[in-house]
Amino acid sequence: MSAPVRAPRPAAVRPAARPGVVRPLRSTAPTPYGLDDLRDLTRQIAAEVRAGEHEVVIDPARRWYRLLRSDGLLDVWLISWATEQVAELHDHAGSLGAMTVVSGALAERRWTGSGGLRTRTLRAERGAGFPLGHVHDVANPSVEPAVSVHAYSPPLSAMSYYDVEDLPASGGQRLRRMRTELVEAGQGVG
Ligand SMILES: [Fe+2]
Repeated sequence: MSAPVRAPRPAAVRPAARPGVVRPLRSTAPTPYGLDDLRDLTRQIAAEVRAGEHEVVIDPARRWYRLLRSDGLLDVWLISWATEQVAELHDHAGSLGAMTVVSGALAERRWTGSGGLRTRTLRAERGAGFPLGHVHDVANPSVEPAVSVHAYSPPLSAMSYYDVEDLPASGGQRLRRMRTELVEAGQGVG
């Protein structure tokens, strides 16, 4: 007599996201570094910048940046922000990231899904981590210039840029991806 045939278990199904809603992912990227490692690294290098170990240029005409470290697994960038300079709403594709503010203050607006964009002010010595799926913009709204250190692992390969669209029917908002750009080696990021 043959063994009874069991019905296959249904595969785990994730709840369907509402159309157009980008949910932040909480998985790890193909990198040996975690968010805490990247945050610690940017904190350490921010201290070096504060101690005068790295030249900083403030350019009112365009955002200034310099690649401080690049080892194939991660890139570390030093970025200065004159007043009103901004990195428009973007993601970091398949890279994890982190930043620490060296001096001044930066306003970050991050996409929270159903909560829309939420703003936080990052002052000197404050930092933030960017998990996969993190969509944000960063700006210096102050008169004083700001300086920050950013780390990405794996090094940034692409960034997508977004607009926020109102949904009149629901009163909510969603992200609309406007374009995706490859990040060339040495290209400034944010
Ligand atoms: Fe960014």
